[in-house]
Amino acid sequence: MAKLTILKFPDPRLKKVARQVTDFSGVMADDLIKIGEDMLETMYASSGVGLAATQVDVDWRIIVIDCSTEKNMPQVLINPVISEFEGTIYWEEGCLSFPGIYAQVRRHERVAVSYQDVYGQVQSIASDGLLGVCLQHEIDHLNGITFYDHLSTLKQKLLRNKIKLMKEKQ
Ligand code: NI
Repeated sequence: MAKLTILKFPDPRLKKVARQVTDFSGVMADDLIKIGEDMLETMYASSGVGLAATQVDVDWRIIVIDCSTEKNMPQVLINPVISEFEGTIYWEEGCLSFPGIYAQVRRHERVAVSYQDVYGQVQSIASDGLLGVCLQHEIDHLNGITFYDHLSTLKQKLLRNKIKLMKEKQ
C-alpha cells in the first residue's frame, strides 16, 4: 500500500468531474483494489472519515469512507449516486483538502446511495447523521464540488482569508 498526496484547496484539479468506472475486469480489477487500499491508508493516516479519488488526483468515481468510532469499517464505493434523499440538516464539516478549516453546510438529513463494489456488484446504503453527510460530501468531490462551494460569498471570503493567514503563519 502507498500513501497518496492529498490536493489542497485552491488546487484547480479539485474542480475536475471524475470519470465513471465501466471496467471491473482484468488489470482494472487489480487497479481498483489497489486504489481503494491506497485511498483508505491515506484517509486513515490523515485521521479523515472519507476521501474521494478527485482529492488524490485519480480520475475515477471512487470514494472511501469509515465513519465508525473504532475505525474498523472501511468501505470503497465506486460510481456512487444519491438515489433518494429526505429532510435537511446543518453539519459542521471539515475536509482533508482544507486542513484546519470547518464550516456549517446544509445537507440532506437522510440519503440512500447506490454504488458498485470493487467487483462491480451493485450495492446500496441508506444513512443519516455523520455517514449520510460524509457520503454527500465525498460524492460532491467526484463532481468537482467542495464544501466551500456550498457556502455564501461572504463565508467563502472569510475562509479564504483564514487560509491565507494560516499559510503566512507556517
Ligand atoms: Ni472533502
